[in-house]
Formats: sequence, structure tokens, C-alpha cells
Amino acid sequence: MSQPARSIQRPWQQTPEDLAVRAELEAGLMAQDAVISPKYLYDPLGSKLFEAICALPEYYPTRTEAAIFAAHASDIAAAVGTGVTLIDLGAGNCAKAAGLFPALKPRQYVPIDISADFLRDAVDGLRQTFPDIPMHEVAMDFSASLELPATVNRDRRLFFYPGSSLGNFDPQQALAFLRRMRHALQIGEAGGVLLGLDLVKDSGVLDAAYDDELGVTAAFNLNMLNHVNRLLGADFNPRDWRHVGFYNAERQRVEMHLEARRDLIVRWEGGRRTFLQGERIHTENSHKFTPEDILDLLEQAGFGDCKMWFDPQRWFAVCHARAR
Ligand code: AVI
Repeated sequence: MSQPARSIQRPWQQTPEDLAVRAELEAGLMAQDAVISPKYLYDPLGSKLFEAICALPEYYPTRTEAAIFAAHASDIAAAVGTGVTLIDLGAGNCAKAAGLFPALKPRQYVPIDISADFLRDAVDGLRQTFPDIPMHEVAMDFSASLELPATVNRDRRLFFYPGSSLGNFDPQQALAFLRRMRHALQIGEAGGVLLGLDLVKDSGVLDAAYDDELGVTAAFNLNMLNHVNRLLGADFNPRDWRHVGFYNAERQRVEMHLEARRDLIVRWEGGRRTFLQGERIHTENSHKFTPEDILDLLEQAGFGDCKMWFDPQRWFAVCHARAR
């Protein structure tokens, strides 16, 4: 059985945000089918592990998307236009957006990420390389709200959401999120979205991409337990858990889970849960799209004039659409 829960901050030292995180984690762990939101994959180590995933031979989305941007750079720039307010959702190391700077010449660059330290380091480096582009980084959980600081230009906003991150939302949440983007664009101005979306394909390719030979995706998934230990004062031992990642064709999504290797009890201050061997915690969904799904979703969210670019295998799509 596991160790007693480590001591955590006393309740009076906790901010309302800390308490909300604890409540969310506890509710997920106590649910009949236990779940932890994928946003907890991204502590500083998790962000670095995700960067490593992007370099894996099996994880095709990053390099395929980059190849689409490279092959269609001038068409994409022509569709988007120059001088936009480039709002980079989940910016991470900001590398993808920086690749677009020469073509798009943004009037302002606004990288947004939940991981404040990682973001600050990335933007500091970028300011040296592009001193003429005003940059205004924002550390926030944009999945909860897209209320941007007043310092972010209101006109010609382009929400850049690459890497098929939209696929990590459930379909209803993805639609709601796109509607929030639409709402943050002024009516009648040339605002829009530039998305990278992963397409439905052979399940063998998808299984390998989310369960790689080196075990980097496994480490990424398991690292979430250390993050939850810190946030909740829980006593998860990652060695007691196994990474599971596979394509669920019926639901058109890759699923990631953590599976208990033996019967065990996880404790945290104020709670505990028994997991039987083989029981799982659902940690991420990564939905895959058809081009028709993408058009439907954008239409329903209030966007039109959609243009799409593909790689030769049609594994991935980059898509630009304008606010209607
Ligand atoms: C960030 N997101 C789009 C990645 C994906 O493919 O769903 C996260 C990831 N999970 C496992 N590998 C990569």
C-alpha cells in the first residue's frame, strides 16, 4: 500500500484558485470512472516531455503540420494577411508562431500559456530575435476564459491554435471554445482563426503516435501523477501505474489512461480512493477530424470563408477561417 499523504499548505494559505484546482482534482478522482484533466499534464517537466514527444519519429503531427506551413506559406499568408494581432493559444516555446513572423509580420504577438515560467523564458529569447514585434505574454488557463487584458489590441485578431490542441476538448467543448474565440473578435473586422487539426487515419499510425517505443509518452502521462501529488498533497507512486494509449475508432479519438498495476490506495489530505488492479484513470482524449467535421464545426461557431491545406498523405490539416 502507498505512503501516507504528504503535508500540504494549510487551507488559510491557499488562494481561491488553489482551492478550485483541489476541488476539480478531487471530484475527478472520486468519480466512478476516475478522470484527471489533461491540463495537468503540463507542469514544467510535462512541458519539456511534450517537446520531446514532438521530436519522436512516431509522433507525426508536429513535423507534418510544420511541412504544411512550409509548403503553403505564401498561400496561408495571403489568406491571413499581414499586421494581425497574433494570439497564440497554448504557446509553449513559441516556436510555431515565431516561424510565421516573417510571413505575417504581426502588429502584436500575444502568447498565452498556463505554464508561466516556461512562457516567460520562451518570450525573453524571442524578444532578442524579433525586437520590432511588440510582445505581451499572458499566463492564464484560456480553456476557462478568453477574457484578455486591455493591453491586447482589439482589431485584426488572429487566434492561432496549432498542433490539433482543439482535439483535446470534447466535441461540445471544442465548439464552445471556438464560439468564445468568435466572441472575442470584433464584428465586421478582419479577424479569424488559424488552426492545425489532426485528421482521421489508420489506427496503427495513431496507436504508435501515442504509445511510442522509447516510452516518452508514457513518461509524459505518468508525470501527471507527480504534478497531482504536488497540487493535492496526494501520494501517487508513478511506479504503480502503467501508461495506456490507443485509438478508439468508434469515438474518433485517441484515449490516454493510467492503469493501476496492483490493488492500491491513493491518499490525500481529506480524501482517499482504492484502485483495483487494472482500474484506470482517464487522462486525455485527442479527437481526430475529417475535413467535413472541421467545416461543420467552424460554421456552427460563426466562422466562414474557410481555407484548408493538407500534407500529401492527408494526415493533418491547417485551416484558416474568418469571423462571419
Ligand atoms: C497537445 N495535444 C494536441 C497533444 C495531442 O496529440 O493530443 C498532446 C499529446 N498527448 C500525447 N501525446 C501528445
